Amino acid sequence: MKCLNIMALATLMGMGTAAHATDHMLETATRQGCFICHSVQTKTGPAVPLAPAYADIAERFKDQKDAASYLAGRILKGTVDTPQDWEGKVNMRFMPPNVGVTPEEASQLAEWILTIKKDAVPEEVITREGMLTLAAQNGCIACHGVSKTKDSHYIPLAPTFHDVAERYKASENPKAVLLDSIMHGTVDKEKKWPDTNMRFMPPNPSLSQQDAETLVDWILSL
Ligand code: HEC
Ligand code: HEC
Repeated sequence: MKCLNIMALATLMGMGTAAHATDHMLETATRQGCFICHSVQTKTGPAVPLAPAYADIAERFKDQKDAASYLAGRILKGTVDTPQDWEGKVNMRFMPPNVGVTPEEASQLAEWILTIKKDAVPEEVITREGMLTLAAQNGCIACHGVSKTKDSHYIPLAPTFHDVAERYKASENPKAVLLDSIMHGTVDKEKKWPDTNMRFMPPNPSLSQQDAETLVDWILSL
């Protein structure tokens, strides 16, 4: 049933697959700043998270009938003047209202969150969501989209990762070229992506070499 919802959402958004719906939701959540406090999957380790992981929220509300509308309301209004749902489990007392989120987005985000499964997959195993979270946490999604933005009115800031994959799939040693662009930026290079609204990519100095390689492998696999 939940799976159907996300498929319906995918169709609604003119996209083919649930995976694309996931991309879209992750991008929305990233743009709206949700990942400043939340993660998708439960983090293991001693630290108390700022906010509940989406997988834990899904688990907790899975049997509640009106969960999607309840959570959409929580997302819009925040949780400041209500009893704390996650008392003792998170490091922040309440969620502030998410003022930039529209009611439609809040419903979509709530429905999507409710489909997230707590996975038993070890952290090293790279999942699509893991990759998007990694890209989000390293700030890539602030400029890049993942999937093609056919119907956007705007010139995108940066190429989508799908377009990068398409352009480089036939070239020689694309990994080294892309790693160099990501780690050092493209400021002193010839502009490669004329249809983007930013002249160059700044260096990403806080990104580890390992994360950069993981991201490049993923981008090239798209
Ligand atoms: C500033 C930090 C922060 C941001 C940004 C934030 N949240 Fe939260 N969120 C929290 C905290 C803290 C809680 C737990 C509140 C509680 O215990 O009542 C929470 C709870 C939730 C819940 C569960 C509500 C409940 O009643 O159990 C959902 C769903 C949620 N957030 C979604 C989102 C979405 C979607 C976004 C982005 C649009 C977002 N949050 C942005 C901190 C944040
Ligand atoms: C401030 C905006 C911004 C951020 C943040 C950003 N990029 Fe970029 N990125 C760009 C722009 C703009 C281009 C196109 C540069 C050009 O036209 O030469 C680009 C190009 C790329 C390319 C293609 C490079 C090439 O040589 O063709 C890849 C791959 C890429 N970015 C990955 C990433 C990853 C991974 C991250 C996160 C670690 C990231 N970017 C963060 C703006 C950004």
